[in-house]
Amino acid sequence: MSDTQFRPINNIEGKTVILTGASRGIGAFIARELAKKQATVICISRSQEGLDKICDEINDLGGKGIGINFNISKVERIPELVYEIKQLTGSFDVDILINNAGIEIYRAFHHYSLKDIQLVLSVNLLAAIELSRLVLPQMLDKADGHIINIASLAGKKGSLYDSIYSASKAGLITWADTLKKELANTNVKVSHICPESISEQALFADTEASTTLRAAISIPEKVAIAVCHSIENNGVEIVENGNFLTRNITKLKFAFEEYLPKFGDAANVSMNTNQLSRFSTKSKNKDQNNQDKLVTNETD
Ligand SMILES: NC(=O)c1ccc[n+]([C@@H]2O[C@H](COP(=O)([O-])OP(=O)(O)OC[C@H]3O[C@@H](n4cnc5c(N)ncnc54)[C@H](OP(=O)(O)O)[C@@H]3O)[C@@H](O)[C@H]2O)c1
Repeated sequence: MSDTQFRPINNIEGKTVILTGASRGIGAFIARELAKKQATVICISRSQEGLDKICDEINDLGGKGIGINFNISKVERIPELVYEIKQLTGSFDVDILINNAGIEIYRAFHHYSLKDIQLVLSVNLLAAIELSRLVLPQMLDKADGHIINIASLAGKKGSLYDSIYSASKAGLITWADTLKKELANTNVKVSHICPESISEQALFADTEASTTLRAAISIPEKVAIAVCHSIENNGVEIVENGNFLTRNITKLKFAFEEYLPKFGDAANVSMNTNQLSRFSTKSKNKDQNNQDKLVTNETD
């Protein structure tokens, strides 16, 4: 057993963090929280405007923001991203990787195109795995590092009309869990955070589709605090929704569904009956809106 085993990073100050999906939403909250702790945050996303804004905020809050405009759905080009980081920072010395970028496309399953499926799996799962594969060797060399994956409760129990997203998050959780075990004798930690739907903004806000029975919604500030807590205390899996009570109700709900799956499914379907019929009558328009959004997002 290594003598460095289980030594937490503890101090975020001065650490270099790669954060995907930093331009807005939860990523921007995580970036601000890291900035308050004086980290250098290498922010990755496609929107130059979003990157400039968050880097200014990081610098104002006491950290150092470096923005890199990169489309991580092009998984085979991720080595170019690593090269760009080396060019911009003069080295490739990364202490913490936060795989946060994620997208959703809501569809009845048979309405997904192969392109939809590949896009969601590429951004949410393959990019996180590939970036981690490229970042890990230097963490192992210096016997220090932490990889944090922003998963979702949808990865614990699938969300209606969000089957590909749910699959991507379930894959992320299982991969992270396996990697964590493989790295148990090193000082490189692996964690995942499972937020519930976020309150005011971001992914789930533009749909009426419910996930499963919910104990509470999440607050992006709390997800960002959970990320820092995970780094500082080597948190393994953090369920972030609401407060102590709702978090534990959610965990009990999952345990109940594991133990008695038929009852769990029946309860979820009956709770979602209204959403099921409302969403299915609107699904064509939703599909079209999402398609438009995708076309505008995919520029190269
Ligand atoms: N919001 C929720 O209710 C919720 C609940 C549970 C888990 N989560 C998870 O939390 C994470 C963040 O979600 P969010 O709600 O903050 O979403 P968001 O507001 O839509 O932000 C997504 C971020 O990912 C970036 N991104 C998307 N596609 C990208 C690509 N191809 N290349 C590079 N960057 C890309 C976006 O930047 P650009 O558009 O500038 O590229 C943006 O910064 C996701 O992994 C999501 O699954 C969210």
